[in-house]
Amino acid sequence: MGLVAGASEGIGAAYAHALAARGFNLVLIARRESPLQAIAQQITNQYGVKVFPISCDLGSADAIQQITQQIGDMTIDFMVYNAASSFIGPYLSTTLSTHTNIATVNMLSLLGLLHYFGSKMVAQRRGGIVIMTSMAGLQGSAYLSTYAATKAFSRILSEGLWFEWKPLGVDVIACCAGATLTPNYLNSNPGKGSWLEPKPQLPEQVAEECLQKIGTTPSFVSGRGNKFVSFLMRHFFSKKKAIEIMGTAMKRMYKIT
Ligand SMILES: NC(=O)c1ccc[n+]([C@@H]2O[C@H](COP(=O)([O-])OP(=O)(O)OC[C@H]3O[C@@H](n4cnc5c(N)ncnc54)[C@H](OP(=O)(O)O)[C@@H]3O)[C@@H](O)[C@H]2O)c1
Repeated sequence: MGLVAGASEGIGAAYAHALAARGFNLVLIARRESPLQAIAQQITNQYGVKVFPISCDLGSADAIQQITQQIGDMTIDFMVYNAASSFIGPYLSTTLSTHTNIATVNMLSLLGLLHYFGSKMVAQRRGGIVIMTSMAGLQGSAYLSTYAATKAFSRILSEGLWFEWKPLGVDVIACCAGATLTPNYLNSNPGKGSWLEPKPQLPEQVAEECLQKIGTTPSFVSGRGNKFVSFLMRHFFSKKKAIEIMGTAMKRMYKIT
C-alpha cells in the first residue's frame, strides 16, 4: 500500500494518481477534508484501488500518532512525503511560530513518518520513499530562508538514508523540484524573476520523472530546464553569486521592497 502525505492537490495529487495507476492501494493525507475526500473518490473510480483518506495537520505535535493510529496494521511499502509549509517574505516580517511551523511540517513530521514506516520497510526488506524537496534548498534563498533551509535538510537526510537503506531493500530518493504549476505556486502569484528561470513544470511531469528515477540515484533536479539552471549555479557561479541571483530573483518575483 502507498502513502502520500500532502495528497489533495498539486504534486501530491499527481503522485497519488501515478501510484494508483501502478496498482497501489493508497493512504492519502492532507488537512482539508473535502478536497481529500474528492480526490480519494476520483482515484477509486478511475483505478479501482482502495483509498483511505486521513485528515491531519502535519504541523501538529501529535500528527504521527494520529496517522499511525488510523493506519493500524495496514502495511505501507511506498511513501511520498510531499506536504510542505512555506512563507515568502523577509524573515522578520512574520512570527517565530510561522517559522517553527515550517520546521515542523517540513522536517519533524518527515522524521517521524520516516522513523515509523522506514523501520517497517527495513524489517520487511522492501520499500520505496520519495521526499519532495526544492531547488530553493540548493543554496541560501533569501525571502524564503526557512523553507529553503528545511528543503536542504530533507535532501541531505534523504541522501544519507539512500545509502543506509539501499542494501536493506528500501529505495529513498529526494526530488528537487523547481517552479511547478500547483495551486500553491499559482496562489503565491509569482512574477518573472530572472532570465535564468525555466518554464514551470506540470505536477504530473515531476511525479512521473521521480517514480522512474527511484532506485537509480539518491537525489535529482526535476525537468531539463531546472537541471540546466542548477548546473550553471553549481559550476559557473560562485556560491556568493548563486545566492545573490536567487535573492534578486525572489525580490523581483514577489515585488519585495
Ligand atoms: N509548486 C512548486 O513550485 C514547488 C517548487 C519546488 C518544490 N516544491 C515542493 O513540492 C511539494 C508540493 O508542493 P505543492 O506546490 O504541490 O503544494 P503544497 O502546498 O506544499 O502542498 C500540497 C499538499 O499538501 C497538503 N498540506 C500542506 N500543508 C499540510 C499540512 N500542514 N498537513 C497536512 N497536509 C498539508 C495540502 O493540502 P491541505 O492544504 O488540505 O493540507 C496539499 O494536499 C512541496 O514539498 C514543495 O516544497 C514545489
